Amino acid sequence: MSNSSANNLDAFWMPFTANRQFKSNPRMLVDAKDMHYTNAEGQKILDGTAGLWCCNAGHGRPQIVEAVSKQIAKMDYAPAFQMGHPKAFELAARLSAMMPNGLDHVFFTNSGSESVDTALKIALAYHQARGEGSRTRLIGRERGYHGVGFGGISVGGIVTNRKHFGTLLAGVDHMPHTHLPEKNSFSRGIPEYGTELADELERIVTLHDASTIAAVIVEPVAGSTGVILPPKGYLERLRKICSKHGILLIFDEVITGFGRLGSAFATDYFGVQPDMITMAKGLTSGAIPMGAVVCSKDIYDTFMDAPENTIELFHGFTYSGHPVAAAAGLATLDIYKEEGLFERANALAPYWEDALHSLKDCPNVIDLRNLGLIGAIELESIPGKPTARAFEAFLKCYEKGVLIRTTGDIIALSPPLIAEKKHVDQIFDTIRTVLGEIA
Ligand SMILES: Cc1ncc(COP(=O)(O)O)c(C=O)c1O
Repeated sequence: MSNSSANNLDAFWMPFTANRQFKSNPRMLVDAKDMHYTNAEGQKILDGTAGLWCCNAGHGRPQIVEAVSKQIAKMDYAPAFQMGHPKAFELAARLSAMMPNGLDHVFFTNSGSESVDTALKIALAYHQARGEGSRTRLIGRERGYHGVGFGGISVGGIVTNRKHFGTLLAGVDHMPHTHLPEKNSFSRGIPEYGTELADELERIVTLHDASTIAAVIVEPVAGSTGVILPPKGYLERLRKICSKHGILLIFDEVITGFGRLGSAFATDYFGVQPDMITMAKGLTSGAIPMGAVVCSKDIYDTFMDAPENTIELFHGFTYSGHPVAAAAGLATLDIYKEEGLFERANALAPYWEDALHSLKDCPNVIDLRNLGLIGAIELESIPGKPTARAFEAFLKCYEKGVLIRTTGDIIALSPPLIAEKKHVDQIFDTIRTVLGEIA
């Protein structure tokens, strides 16, 4: 008898999971509706993380279910290359209309990782098309997370995601991260100190010369590393330096897109416009995998200079703009608009901030950070056992019916945008109790 039939959890190699630990005591979710999951034991679990930062409209939304069901029955799939179907064009137009002026062309992918690698490839090909093929360097940031493709981990800055995978892409450099606990701890919203860290980009440009640099990619708010916020004026300064040197600026908005900060995108929140935006997750509220890269008119037009019968970009996925995903995306955008969910997130954000900062005196809390409906609780690590304290908090919160997410010893929170004050209270009351229990 094979191992997998002896133990029916064995065959699935779970991603970013301690497989053996999980399988010895599984946390199995079987149902989801609005703000809650239900687990295999029938317990309701309040979703404090919108799944993985993706279910911004909450779970089991009938409009999405209906749109997806209708589309799959009508046309399950259409080839993505040299053929089209109406919903992909409609969704691209809708997305483009949500963007600041000049960011108006959409390339579809199936995930955040694919969006990032797509944007990096577009940046390289763009400079080549303009006759500046020497611009091949890509600049990321320490502690950045840009998914798990080779491009994404190369520009990313999370050590464990990089160190096992060889030499990665050549010609990548990294700016410093902007986490300055000694100056900014317990900041409410955007931290005051660290704007000058953007000038490190000038230093990198001086080192390599601008003529070798294609693009800079940053998360406007870094999520997966444990929530790192941009200091006041930092993103503006990055924008200025990129413009001055002809370097493309890419905002990875995979988690900040679709209302997380209380505006449609972080570009709106900060009033800083990049040349490309990568997105995924909230695009379909997590219901069907889909991602996208939105590009500036200048980038698109540069490619469209080629003779008319040539393929302008040798890149794409079998499922780019998949009809069922596009249907889910359209229904999701309708919900965001009809229910004013971005405005709702914005209105709830001050209450969220107060609730988060009420944990200041809980045991082992060394920092609290927030923006929009994002919150982070950084815990003092147990000496010699990094991650153990936060993971215990995660397990205990789950036992008490609240789903949180941890990375290192940081608890990161990002509830669906349909959250109500009572849900915010339950999340933070539970965490307060648990931090007391595990002190
Ligand atoms: C900023 C950012 N970029 C890219 C990704 C990768 O997205 P995916 O897991 O859909 O490939 C994530 C996922 O959390 C992310 O937060």
